[in-house]
Amino acid sequence: MGDRSRSSQTIELAPETTGSTIRSWARFYDAVGWLMTFGKASAMRKETVALAQPAAGEKVLDVGCGTGTDAIALRAKVGPGGEVVGIDAAPEMISVARSKAAKRGADIDFRVGLIEEIPFPDDCFDLVLSSFMLHHLPDDVKGKGLAEIRRVLKPGGRFLAVDLTIHGHSFVGHVMTLLGHGERGQATGLRAIIDDAGFGEVEILESKFKQLAFVRALP
Ligand SMILES: C[S@@+](CC[C@H](N)C(=O)[O-])C[C@H]1O[C@@H](n2cnc3c(N)ncnc32)[C@H](O)[C@@H]1O
Repeated sequence: MGDRSRSSQTIELAPETTGSTIRSWARFYDAVGWLMTFGKASAMRKETVALAQPAAGEKVLDVGCGTGTDAIALRAKVGPGGEVVGIDAAPEMISVARSKAAKRGADIDFRVGLIEEIPFPDDCFDLVLSSFMLHHLPDDVKGKGLAEIRRVLKPGGRFLAVDLTIHGHSFVGHVMTLLGHGERGQATGLRAIIDDAGFGEVEILESKFKQLAFVRALP
């Protein structure tokens, strides 16, 4: 008996990165997210998509896309003339994202890829999103990744970064520490990191979710 009965999907090789990838529990990621947000994950996703302001016909990149939830929502917004690409360092996350998109009939190019070497030419996206992913990167990779985002954004394009602003003493803070993600901060910290990467206009967006930071930057 071979391994064929276990899965018909081939998992690609994982590229090397010092970013913290999610591999062994990729299949449970959405459920864990739901639990950790006390069921608010879907409202948070809606807020993310609203603040990203996707328009019909736009070309969008979701970097560190995980299981593809945001990419799938953005796909519906950009319409048939638009295009959505999701990259993630973890082949297991990309595999889940592809299955979810196939079930929903969403035509999205999900690829294994690194933020520090975005596999696309200069000036090709109207919108780049990074959601809950920058805190997975050590400082040097964060710097390289943000430079890559600037490179692939079209002039006039925009970058939306979403990340946690939770504190170590909160429930979610403890869970994040257990998962090995010690570094968290305030929206101002996220804005400063993006500023340092040489983006033009960088602004913190208002949101009802105080545990999240939404920062929009122009290249
Ligand atoms: C907390 S998850 C966020 C996933 C998704 N964006 C979301 O909002 O649910 C962080 C993701 O970043 C990915 N990641 C870590 N290092 C990376 C890198 N160097 N390049 C691309 N993705 C990376 C992880 O594999 C993981 O899927």
